[in-house]
Amino acid sequence: MSAERTFAMVKPDGVQRGLVGEIVRRYEARGLKVVGLKLMHVPRSLAEAHYAEHKGKPFYNGLVDYIVSGPVVALCLEGKNAVAVVRAMNGATKPWDATPGTIRGDLALDIGRNVVHGSDSVESAKRELDIYFSKDEIVDWTPVAHKWVTE
Ligand code: RTP
Ligand code: MG
Repeated sequence: MSAERTFAMVKPDGVQRGLVGEIVRRYEARGLKVVGLKLMHVPRSLAEAHYAEHKGKPFYNGLVDYIVSGPVVALCLEGKNAVAVVRAMNGATKPWDATPGTIRGDLALDIGRNVVHGSDSVESAKRELDIYFSKDEIVDWTPVAHKWVTE
């Protein structure tokens, strides 16, 4: 069985605010399997590739500046419907619209400081995982609790 994989990120504000543990804890507690995880300073060229779809929009330059402004934690998470599950857990892009209980609804206030990223489709996830991780940084393993999380 090959479960879905998605790309998630604790953005620089999340790292600076000491929220890495809190955010990764939530993904793990949901049952998602961590198969890739690294602290990294995102090179500008990589941030530009990640956010290429937003190039030309008014917030693009600020967004790239934000992502390269400090270390981030890049994650590859695996599980049933991982893409949709992580998007739902992250909450609305605008934190003031994010439901309490979501990461942004509990931990963020501003759109340019919304602490997390999650791929918006399986295709985006593949593209973003290729950008952020090399093949040998993704670890295939089976948690002992796997059958207690997924039928
Ligand atoms: P993300 O990619 O970070 O998971 O967030 P998203 O899909 O919910 O939002 P997206 O539309 O892809 O935008 C990417 C990030 O750009 C910043 N943004 N700022 N000022 C603005 O109008 C604006 N719009 C987007 C946010 O940091 C957003 O997460
Ligand atoms: Mg997005």
